[in-house]
Amino acid sequence: MQAIAEIVKKHKQEHVLRFIDELKPMQRSELLRQLEQIDFAELDRLIAEYVMKTPEIRIPEDLEPAPFFPLKPRDDEQKKRYAEAAVLGEKLLRGGKVAVLTVAGGQGTRLGFDAPKGTFPITPVKGKSLFQYFAESITRAGIKYETELTWYIMTSKLNNEATRDFFEKHNYFGLDPENVIFFTQGTMPAIDYNGKLLLAEKNSLALAPDGHGGTLLALRRSGCLDRMKFDGVEYISYFQVDNPLVSVVNPLFIGLHAMAESDMSAIMLAKTGPFEKLGNFCISNNKLMIIEYSDLPDELAKARNRDGSLKFIAGSPAIHVLNRKFVAELTKTGSLQLPWHRADKKIKYVNGEGKIITPETPNGVKLESFIFDALQLAGKTMLLEADRKEEFAPTKNKTGVDSVESCREMLIDRDAGRLERAGVKVPRTADGRTAVKIEISPLAVIDDEDARSHCKSENIVEISSSRESFYLT
Ligand code: UTP
Repeated sequence: MQAIAEIVKKHKQEHVLRFIDELKPMQRSELLRQLEQIDFAELDRLIAEYVMKTPEIRIPEDLEPAPFFPLKPRDDEQKKRYAEAAVLGEKLLRGGKVAVLTVAGGQGTRLGFDAPKGTFPITPVKGKSLFQYFAESITRAGIKYETELTWYIMTSKLNNEATRDFFEKHNYFGLDPENVIFFTQGTMPAIDYNGKLLLAEKNSLALAPDGHGGTLLALRRSGCLDRMKFDGVEYISYFQVDNPLVSVVNPLFIGLHAMAESDMSAIMLAKTGPFEKLGNFCISNNKLMIIEYSDLPDELAKARNRDGSLKFIAGSPAIHVLNRKFVAELTKTGSLQLPWHRADKKIKYVNGEGKIITPETPNGVKLESFIFDALQLAGKTMLLEADRKEEFAPTKNKTGVDSVESCREMLIDRDAGRLERAGVKVPRTADGRTAVKIEISPLAVIDDEDARSHCKSENIVEISSSRESFYLT
């Protein structure tokens, strides 16, 4: 206690012990444990660099748009490569070389849902949760590729218990609990605009998850990398918990990644406009990197090619394949310095009088690292274009853009399209929208090939327009 008191005093953070005499022994040790974990010299540096000033974003002068493999192969040679890659990807899946990783440690503040985001009921007809939807896709992929896929789910200290309870309550949605591995990311203390650590309670600092960049170190610290190695896993299929449209494993993407001997690959989408809120894939100094939408200078964002298309067209939906060995190499010393990104947030805190204050406007800073910053540390990278309608429906907000509503509509559209491509007649309104709420269970169908064979064997040829909804299972 004495030692900690001296350290916090030395670093001008002694206010965090303001209520120590009121605390019960257990509460006291909780706070002291949190403080012991902080590297105060590093904290001073971060406060000076990221909190007391807004860090300057330096845009490299040699910034160029990143090259990518297009959605449809451009020529015969590429066509051949894609076909080989799809076969290789499938082989790697069948050989147990791929694990699935979902990052679900975020706080989901924009959605304003009082539980882990993955538990949010998202599907349009059955109201399946995001976790259930992924679990069913993973089950189907396991059957299709005759393999047992292990699913790694990153939680944070704030939502780990609730996430695990949800899976327990729902019997892991039919998955073998041995193959669902939860691991917890690190935290960073929140800091107010005066450079002071905030207390969330009298016995606890305000701690926030350290960003999805925390995945890499958390994989090592939790022993997940060891388990992957033991299981013979070489490739990690990575996606975010709020995107139910994603292919949980994508043979073409995995195959192209492996053929390119890439360390870390990414899916890209053609941006809908210059200022769409997606990170921009760029190249600087021969390295693939993402420049956040807010940081890309306007003239670059608006720059066009001769054919009128955006020069910086490649936006990031945060879908990656990472080599297990690349993650192991990056984290081998037990630490990893990805750059920090500052986020100004409304942070609930205990004031000097011991009252909990819920601020109306941002009152402090949270620091996060981003997984895409690892792209610059990779030897080789690979970028593949995907069709947004097939791969990306983020659930960030309650309504409007990237919302629950838009996500449900996209799920319906994707499934309707799949049925149509399988030869099923789907009722549409005069303006071309799907007239019936459609949902396909991922237990039955995860791609067009599944849709074709399933509709054929179930003899599904038309969906009646008199129905309100249609659920295919
Ligand atoms: P977002 O950046 O959208 O953040 O996360 P969020 O916390 O979910 O939502 P807001 O910004 O508070 O509204 C993108 C993905 O990264 C995960 C999230 O769970 C989501 O899958 N993530 C984010 C983590 O796993 N850990 C983090 O520290 C941050």
